[in-house]
Amino acid sequence: MKMEQLYSGKAKTIYKTDDPTKFISQFRDSLTAFDGKKKSEVANKGYCNAQITKKIYEMLEEKDIKTHLIEMASDTEMLVHAVEIIKIEVIVRNIAAGSITRKYPVAEGTIFENPIIAFDYKSDEYGDPMLNEDIAVALGISTYAEIEQIRNIALKINRILVEYLDEKGILLPDFKLEFGRKDGEILLADEISCDTCRFWDKGTGESLDKDIFRFDKGDISKAYEEVARRIVPDIFD
Ligand code: TMP
Ligand code: ASP
Repeated sequence: MKMEQLYSGKAKTIYKTDDPTKFISQFRDSLTAFDGKKKSEVANKGYCNAQITKKIYEMLEEKDIKTHLIEMASDTEMLVHAVEIIKIEVIVRNIAAGSITRKYPVAEGTIFENPIIAFDYKSDEYGDPMLNEDIAVALGISTYAEIEQIRNIALKINRILVEYLDEKGILLPDFKLEFGRKDGEILLADEISCDTCRFWDKGTGESLDKDIFRFDKGDISKAYEEVARRIVPDIFD
């Protein structure tokens, strides 16, 4: 049973339930970019992202990746394990796009021979600065063992996702993961969706993700629905 709100982020709201070991994560239609400076509401966004995340998390579970997902509580809400979120945004990059092309001399579209894993400190107050293992441990954000495990899980997720999306005609330049602790285990938390990944159409190279909103590149509802159609076609029956 859904109870009081625990936390409301930019795109999702977390509620307590009558079971202290479970939360409900609600995917909303609100959308922000550039540290919340640009805001909008996008019809059906919460639904598409919730359904895409559900399908991807179920697919990852089949390949022995542990996630926080228990089951859907509604079309836009997930019942999830209550985890303690590790305050690290794990960014995985396969093709250069976004901030790496602004901060370093690398052209958009450059394919990285080895995937890049980078860590940001998840903190609105400090503007999500980049972290490394030593900073994370010094600040008490994680242990070395956790970071090593997170890195390995992120690389495995990347291998699985690249292949899975390729079959659906989608390239995966980069994406962001978040993890949580539960009973000494690390679970994949948060979401994997059009808000947290770059998805490029394999044929045309067109963005099918939040970059459409960031850079006013077209109809965002249509693009999110297109990704949902390719990943969860059954919801359109
Ligand atoms: P970036 O190019 O802005 O660094 O983003 C890299 C990837 O991480 C991109 O797929 C978007 C995702 N991302 C988030 O989901 N949330 C964030 O706060 C940031 C900075 C990036
Ligand atoms: N997540 C950040 C924000 O909402 C950055 C982004 O995704 O553009 O401001």
